[in-house]
Amino acid sequence: MQTTLKTRHVALVPAAGSGSRMKSGTPKQYLELMGKPLIRHALETLCASPGIDRVYVVLSVGDRTWDGYDWSDLEPKLVRLFCGGPSRADSVLNGLRAIRDEMSDADWVLVHDAARPCLAQWHVSKLLDALSHEEVGGLLAIPVADTLKRDDGHGHSLETVSRDRLWQAQTPQMFRYIMLRRALERAREVTDEASAIEAAGLRPRLVEGDATNLKVTYPLDLHVAEWILTNRSD
Ligand code: CTP
Ligand code: MG
Repeated sequence: MQTTLKTRHVALVPAAGSGSRMKSGTPKQYLELMGKPLIRHALETLCASPGIDRVYVVLSVGDRTWDGYDWSDLEPKLVRLFCGGPSRADSVLNGLRAIRDEMSDADWVLVHDAARPCLAQWHVSKLLDALSHEEVGGLLAIPVADTLKRDDGHGHSLETVSRDRLWQAQTPQMFRYIMLRRALERAREVTDEASAIEAAGLRPRLVEGDATNLKVTYPLDLHVAEWILTNRSD
């Protein structure tokens, strides 16, 4: 007889990038943001979430910076894995493979970019609540607000693209362990997990988040993130 154990929720945080667009010698996950490495902000939120059982962080194989910080206040919930790959999708897939012995097929994985430091507790709980009765899973996203243009390849606007039903994908993106691993094994050239799930013919639920969950990509974003964290009331 099969025993039904409660499905677990684990977070997987890819943090093996180099942050080339930040034009800083330090990978952006380790840039200082309000007195701590940028990555610590999201890890603290995920570790403090009662709905999340474990938080895995995927670091590059040659990472020499992580162990220079004290993470003991977040352990044992926080676990580090030195198995990053050449792309974000590779890092996520390597992480999923590294934890295979600890996961049941139906367990949920919330993949969250280390580069999104302003993740709030309400973002996590809204995603978990919204997906509690979904079979496939889903992601935080925001409806596109600006008018969109396609250029002609020479710096002139060729046409206006309707923003009707367009969303900007964010993270966390939450899918069942085995479904996500298989989808990523088949679709390697994707920039997020939802694309891999879509390529498998499934439809992730779009859960509306907000613009404060920004991804730090360019130097200006670091200042915006600091403003958000300083002025946050939630
Ligand atoms: N990431 C990763 N492994 C890679 C590339 C990216 O784990 N090989 C992670 C980054 O550390 C980041 C997240 O994926 O937390 C989102 O990627 P992105 O914002 O593109 O970060 P970088 O790749 O580091 O930045 P850039 O593209 O500017 O080099
Ligand atoms: Mg990148």
